[in-house]
Amino acid sequence: MSKPLNVGVLGCGFMGRAHSNAYLQVNHFFDREHQPVLKTCYGRQEDREKLEAFAKRWSYESIETDWRKVVERDDIDLIDVCVPNFMHHDCVIAAAEAGKMIICEKPLAMNVAEAEEMVAAVEKAGVANMVSFNYRRVPAIALMKQIIDEGRVGRPFHYRATYNQDYTIGADVPQGGMALWRLDSRVAGSGVTGDLLAHSIDSAEWLNGPIAKVCAYAETFIKQRKHADTGKVEKVDIDDACMFLAVFANGSIGTFESTRYARGRKNYSTMEINGENGAMFFDLENAHMLRYFRYADPDTGKKIEDHLTGWQDILVTNFEHPYMKNWWVPGCVIGYEHTFTNSFADFLAGLEGGESFQPDMKCALRTQRVCEAVLASAKAGQWVEIPA
Ligand SMILES: NC(=O)c1ccc[n+]([C@@H]2O[C@H](COP(=O)([O-])OP(=O)(O)OC[C@H]3O[C@@H](n4cnc5c(N)ncnc54)[C@H](O)[C@@H]3O)[C@@H](O)[C@H]2O)c1
Repeated sequence: MSKPLNVGVLGCGFMGRAHSNAYLQVNHFFDREHQPVLKTCYGRQEDREKLEAFAKRWSYESIETDWRKVVERDDIDLIDVCVPNFMHHDCVIAAAEAGKMIICEKPLAMNVAEAEEMVAAVEKAGVANMVSFNYRRVPAIALMKQIIDEGRVGRPFHYRATYNQDYTIGADVPQGGMALWRLDSRVAGSGVTGDLLAHSIDSAEWLNGPIAKVCAYAETFIKQRKHADTGKVEKVDIDDACMFLAVFANGSIGTFESTRYARGRKNYSTMEINGENGAMFFDLENAHMLRYFRYADPDTGKKIEDHLTGWQDILVTNFEHPYMKNWWVPGCVIGYEHTFTNSFADFLAGLEGGESFQPDMKCALRTQRVCEAVLASAKAGQWVEIPA
């Protein structure tokens, strides 16, 4: 029996597109009772032309330029927050008070104080909620998690993450407006820390457990930029680049680096873990591949190194790999958009008696705490501990 799930999407930009596509795809590839229906979408009045084209392309039934009207509608079951970070708090609180299920893009909020209020609101309302740290649903990253849980990495010593891009190097790139609101601290909260490192932190804590303390350095290379909304040259307050050292609660140590000034890098997100029994490396720009180094048998602890020992490339497309039995046949790769479809499939499964979705807002609050500790450490120039 299929159950319509009426969706109101707030935002008609990058994530609005990615989520709309996933709502339309999910029932084609996963057996789920709930069937998302694209009821209405919101965009700013100044983006109205874009909003209209977006609604037509994805077959939304209506549009709104006031997001509160979407939240107030009785015929909407789920509010999907795909607007810039400064709006997440108010949208989520209003949606929770209206008793809607909520999907929220990352980072959860502008800061920890906002995120705490959001968690309290969804818990009080008792509504299903998810935060879109979609990289957990890259099959190769989900396979990393499985391999770690099977003991094949063993005691971890090192964790290494990078998330590098290059699209803000030009001094003539403005701040403000579609996509470039990311350079305006009043709209984004922070720079690469909330935008990119939040993903790296979510993946790291999922794979390697909680981070206990951090020591960070952040840089803003271009200190002033023209604002697209005001036309005036204004101070840039976000971090263009941020690096930090981390000590994990399990005793392993980590390095994290993120920048939008790595010439040549577009969406270069990598993670590597080195343990007693093995190691793994993943690169998002080669997302169907997982590199694995097998050293010792997890059951006996005995070295299995022989003439075949070396890094292996696992093409993560077999039916036994996470999510892959729902897609094509072995050898056919899937890509970026599928991470959202896989996420929604898991969210719907949670509504239908399966495991409740992770990361939810409570879990994403933890990532927000680590981001805030990273920014505090960069400001103070010293180590900052993160409460368990
Ligand atoms: N999960 C991911 O990998 C991922 C990737 C990209 C973005 N995101 C997150 O998704 C959210 C939306 O990002 P996006 O890239 O889709 O944004 P976008 O700039 O492409 O779209 C922004 C949308 O918000 C509306 N809006 C309202 N107020 C605005 C303002 N002051 N400035 C600009 N737009 C405004 C616009 O009309 C538009 O519909 C953000 O929280 C972002 O961090 C997540």
